[in-house]
Amino acid sequence: MNETTYILEYHGITKGFPGVQALDDVSFKIETGTVHALVGENGAGKSTLMKVTGGAYIPEGGEVVYKGEKVSFLQPADALQKGIRTVYQELNLVEKLKVHENMFLGSEEHVVLRDKEESVKARAILTDYGLEKIDPRRQVGRLSIGERQLLEIAKSAWANPDLLIMDEPSSSLSSSEIEILFNLIKRLRKEGKTIIYISHKLTEVLEISDNITVLRDGKHVITAPNKEFTEETLITHMVNRKMGKQYPERVSNVGEVVLEVENLTRAGKFKDCSFTLHRGEILGFSGLMGAGRTELMRAVFGLDPYDSGTIRLRGKRVNHISPSKAKDLGMGFVSEDRRLDGLVLCRSTKENTVLPNLLSYSKRLFGVINRKQENEAVDAQKEALNIKYANKDHKVKYLSGGNQQKVILSKWLLMEPEILIMDEPTRGIDVGAKKEIYDIIHELSLEDLGVLLISSENDELLGLCDRIIVMHDGSIEKEFAREEANADDLLLAAFGRFKS
Ligand SMILES: Nc1ncnc2c1ncn2[C@@H]1O[C@H](COP(=O)(O)OP(=O)(O)OP(=O)(O)O)[C@@H](O)[C@H]1O
Ligand SMILES: [Mg+2]
Repeated sequence: MNETTYILEYHGITKGFPGVQALDDVSFKIETGTVHALVGENGAGKSTLMKVTGGAYIPEGGEVVYKGEKVSFLQPADALQKGIRTVYQELNLVEKLKVHENMFLGSEEHVVLRDKEESVKARAILTDYGLEKIDPRRQVGRLSIGERQLLEIAKSAWANPDLLIMDEPSSSLSSSEIEILFNLIKRLRKEGKTIIYISHKLTEVLEISDNITVLRDGKHVITAPNKEFTEETLITHMVNRKMGKQYPERVSNVGEVVLEVENLTRAGKFKDCSFTLHRGEILGFSGLMGAGRTELMRAVFGLDPYDSGTIRLRGKRVNHISPSKAKDLGMGFVSEDRRLDGLVLCRSTKENTVLPNLLSYSKRLFGVINRKQENEAVDAQKEALNIKYANKDHKVKYLSGGNQQKVILSKWLLMEPEILIMDEPTRGIDVGAKKEIYDIIHELSLEDLGVLLISSENDELLGLCDRIIVMHDGSIEKEFAREEANADDLLLAAFGRFKS
């Protein structure tokens, strides 16, 4: 009979930060050769525990036992040397370097191999992991977020670790990319590796994991085999309160047209896209990754150029749109990648919240920032969006992923825009906070805000939107009214296969 062995044991791990107890006496074990999922709300302590495991943080109390040996106070280099690899929530690739350079960065190969050889070797590795679509000679900065994520995972898997930790690896992957990831995970498990898998997507967690641990407010709640959970019981363990309905009862508040986009085209990105947005309307954009939704919205907001077509705001044609002009005209943009153009990580939460609004808090002539107003505004947003942080003057990079997303949302809401473009606003956000954000979007629409909502979760679009536009291959494929939309048809249209 095979005896269960544990690759990792946590005994009473404790770790605090000023104002929060991120981990509070956490104990549980991880079986060798399994996929162990770790779930919990934003700020529950998942990433902190993984940082303790990977040696990035030293716990104040408790013991980590790895392969039967006590290893508390691990240093990052020890962890690597012992075969622990972590793909952190914030990726660690150098954008200016090419894919193959990133793959071998820090390894001996990089010193020995010449450019050409390195690229050939990188291609072989990528192909082996099902990632032949990534060209090893491309600059990493030119890859999509999903491709970067997969590259980082491939890089870590190639290092042949015994324990591979993935902190929200799937949050920016398309469904076909998730399949690649799951195949890779299954293969590693077959080879006897252990994987810790963190995700807010509970269906995925239930699909891929062998065992599941739930953390809540820094405390261990339960560790049990996958088959003992359902999505509902997981949520109950995570939130420990009765959750109301996930989506607000939609009361439509559609007013006059506020934005008209006509035949907008950018070669190779999107073609002849026309749509209108009304005041108080939530207009959803569905489609596969790469369908052109982000590119279209970036052009509408002036972040990217377009070749032809017109944009009209409140009936007036807007020429030469730029982000600052868009802001002046009452538009906001919550971007899909909080690290690239959403937040300044080394600045405080307060600064990030008031950043685009500085002018309204400064006394024009002297440029002096009105601290009191600024503080009040930030506190009000913290309250309204239920953002969790101990001190608004601490750097925003110390906030948990989901709370960072709320800070982005609050900075745009402070501008009181008339139109808000939101690109995947609930990515990386737990079920409870998602509901809060849905309620906020719904309420803002009742106050006449027009919302353009891009989401890869069709449930979300079906639950919130007055209309849903589906894009396919750069074009608008189909528009559905709320009453006629359903999950099957959205998917068919996304594949360009909808026939009415
Ligand atoms: N370096 C740090 N300095 C201060 N506080 C921190 C730091 N790292 C984490 N925290 C706090 O510790 C708590 C746990 O954060 P952690 O990142 O572990 O949460 P998480 O479960 O990974 O959440 P998410 O699902 O949002 O990623 C949060 O309240 C967070 O703000
Ligand atoms: Mg985290």
